[in-house]
Amino acid sequence: MATIQKEILPPIDLSYVRSQFPSLAQTIDGHPAVFMDGPGGTQVPQRVIDAISDYLKHNNANTGGAYATSRHTDAAIAGTRLAMADFLNCDADEIVLGPNMTTLTFAMSRAIGRELQPGDEILLTHLDHSANVSPWEALEERGVTIRLAEIHEQDCTLDMEDLANKITSRTKLVAAGYASNAVGTINDVKQIVRLAHAAGAMAYIDAVHYAPHGAIDVRALDCDFLVCSTYKFFGPHMGVLYGKREHLSRFQPYKVRANTNAIPNRWEWGTLNHECIAGITACVDYIADLGQQANPWATNRRARVLAAFAAIQKHEQELMKILIHGLLAIPGLKLYGISDPQRFEHRCPTVAARIAGQTPLELATKLGDRGIFTWDGNYYALNLTERLDVEKDGGFLRIGLAHYNTAEEVERLLAALAEITI
Ligand SMILES: Cc1ncc(COP(=O)(O)O)c(C=O)c1O
Repeated sequence: MATIQKEILPPIDLSYVRSQFPSLAQTIDGHPAVFMDGPGGTQVPQRVIDAISDYLKHNNANTGGAYATSRHTDAAIAGTRLAMADFLNCDADEIVLGPNMTTLTFAMSRAIGRELQPGDEILLTHLDHSANVSPWEALEERGVTIRLAEIHEQDCTLDMEDLANKITSRTKLVAAGYASNAVGTINDVKQIVRLAHAAGAMAYIDAVHYAPHGAIDVRALDCDFLVCSTYKFFGPHMGVLYGKREHLSRFQPYKVRANTNAIPNRWEWGTLNHECIAGITACVDYIADLGQQANPWATNRRARVLAAFAAIQKHEQELMKILIHGLLAIPGLKLYGISDPQRFEHRCPTVAARIAGQTPLELATKLGDRGIFTWDGNYYALNLTERLDVEKDGGFLRIGLAHYNTAEEVERLLAALAEITI
């Protein structure tokens, strides 16, 4: 596979990137819209919109029928599995499609829970989104014990020593995030998987927040399961689960009798969202095209996805430097998470902050009035906002950058915050 070093990558062609996303051209009360709400869902390129509407115009049908549009639907779904297999580096039959990450995780926790006994343990973390917490906590009704790995409060990183100490011979599963959707921390997922496996436990990784920011390689991670949501990486509102073939074949889903036992279909119940599934291939192809621009020698879609994320990371790190440097200069601002530029490879460009004297909601509203879209609250990272004791005061203001954001937009945000906080 032809790879290229990050340092010599050409800069991302931002005018090409932005021309692909029609929503970026919007204005709000005369202000050009600035989308810094990516962690809640990113914008989509035109080709995703086209793929969805094209499917509905020409191929709208149910699966498995003996006629053209049904066969085209089967082919579109098979194509999406191949695209997601390239995206995650696995085989197509290890890809399960579903409505969203949360639903897929509840389905999997219910199936895994069938085999657990009272006294078995599941280890979760204080850094995680509720979608990788509540489905496992639901197994407490079977007598399963839930434990929580701690964080280092000063930089909102996982306390790996505590995590290692809390994995015991009773631990059956460790569920952890690849990156925090609140404070941006990227976890050492490979080490988490290693620690889980050393104790005979499985590792369930929530890659929802990481997926728009970095390449994922489930084979290299050796995780048992990994989940993501395509609407967070420039695709439609859908969820995708990777499971090792042996697990998808062995665990028993709650499914209808008419569903076959073949993987991955035994995990996909009812009629899926075919038009959105068609959109997923278009979103992976958009990312791959970006990779081809970064590295014209990348020989296949997987290599192009890797090149795309190398270019995306380089761009996002530049934006992050401007953003965090500017935020730290605002009087009364407290930033949660890693702020040292030397450690930026351990964080995503998702920044949580509070500013004395104004609630996160007040700040987000004033920014929104200026056409700058951020978020306030806990974004379901409830274990973290409670642990840091900010839940009672409205959580954080979250600024979430994506590769389509520009340095000018970051400067605009900083100027707006300076104006709002004087
Ligand atoms: C880190 C993380 N995990 C899980 C989820 C839930 O994903 P979904 O909306 O696909 O259920 C989110 C959604 O914001 C998230 O940010």
